[in-house]
Amino acid sequence: MKIDGVAWRPIWADDDGETVEIIDQTTLPFAFGTKRLTTMEEAAEAISVMRVRGAPLIGVTAAYGLAMALRDDPSDAAMRAAYDTLHATRPTAINLRWALDRVSGAMADIAPADRAGAAYTLAGEMADEDAEINRRIGAHGLTLLREAAAKGGRVNVLTHCNAGWLATVDWGTATSPVYQAHDEGIDVHVWVDETRPRNQGAFLTALELGWHGVPHSIIADNAGGHLMQHGEVDLCLVGTDRVTATGDVCNKIGTYLKALAAHDNGVPFYVCLPTPTIDWRVRDGVAEIPIENRAPDEVLSIDGVLPSGEIVRSRIAAPGSDAVNPAFDVTPARLVTGLITEAGIMEASEVGLAGLRPKAVSI
Ligand code: MRU
Repeated sequence: MKIDGVAWRPIWADDDGETVEIIDQTTLPFAFGTKRLTTMEEAAEAISVMRVRGAPLIGVTAAYGLAMALRDDPSDAAMRAAYDTLHATRPTAINLRWALDRVSGAMADIAPADRAGAAYTLAGEMADEDAEINRRIGAHGLTLLREAAAKGGRVNVLTHCNAGWLATVDWGTATSPVYQAHDEGIDVHVWVDETRPRNQGAFLTALELGWHGVPHSIIADNAGGHLMQHGEVDLCLVGTDRVTATGDVCNKIGTYLKALAAHDNGVPFYVCLPTPTIDWRVRDGVAEIPIENRAPDEVLSIDGVLPSGEIVRSRIAAPGSDAVNPAFDVTPARLVTGLITEAGIMEASEVGLAGLRPKAVSI
């Protein structure tokens, strides 16, 4: 996608064949900066502190991180250690494990001396694949937006967190249908949940929709139900960090409440995902998906910018109060209208997902 007419991705390979550059998302939307990742440790740090975030982008960054580790030591033991370090950075997005499994699995038949180059090349291929997958998700989701537009008037989409191009390699998942609808002239407007505590909606989704010229309004997280009651939401489009084999959807905290409100108001609730986001080993999302618990400080404070441009963190809670900060929740499959994948739109159920299940997987 473009910023001021220039095409960007949130991660791209350097010419040296060893390192990568990223857009550092920790200072967005107040300051735009890039950072070079030169070691596995720097890649792990970038995922941990959320310089890169969003399930698909976490996976691709980890793939490059593993390639950097193999450059420094291509032995099986070093690869295993790097796998473990990268895997421990964030617990919920299954794309992380998927990417590490894919790269490490591909190294089995490659001589140690050739591993780093092969892994770096594979990581690049995975990045390009992600962009194409998301383009296809958008093409399938676009059919829903065309149907909504055919009823007349503006199409209002509600989204949560940032499942945009900043969370992927390109297009985004939940934003891809929106960008494609906007580009073909459909009058689409997005309600952007601010997505406390880290504000990925207000900070990132709003920023990238604005870069692309898509009309949008940031709303407080609690406003969605009200808007749905008043017919202001045509459909919800969200992303996900892990979908179970039975169609349960894990996504940013607060997604479940939006799905409940959508269900109560007859608003279609769609989840956009690349198929690597499906965890075929898990059946019960609520019971089995590990939910990341993040620092209380994210709830107790908020980042903002002063007129001088200085970014400051302000406490917004009573002095002395503590907080808990679960970063994700699980929306049961029964609340999901459909899953939009690169392979098409399907029911959120074991039957709906059956056609996507890799033959080697059994649970
Ligand atoms: O904690 P984050 O910012 O990594 O969470 C991101 C989300 O929850 C996204 O909705 C999800 O990763 C889908 S990204 C296409």
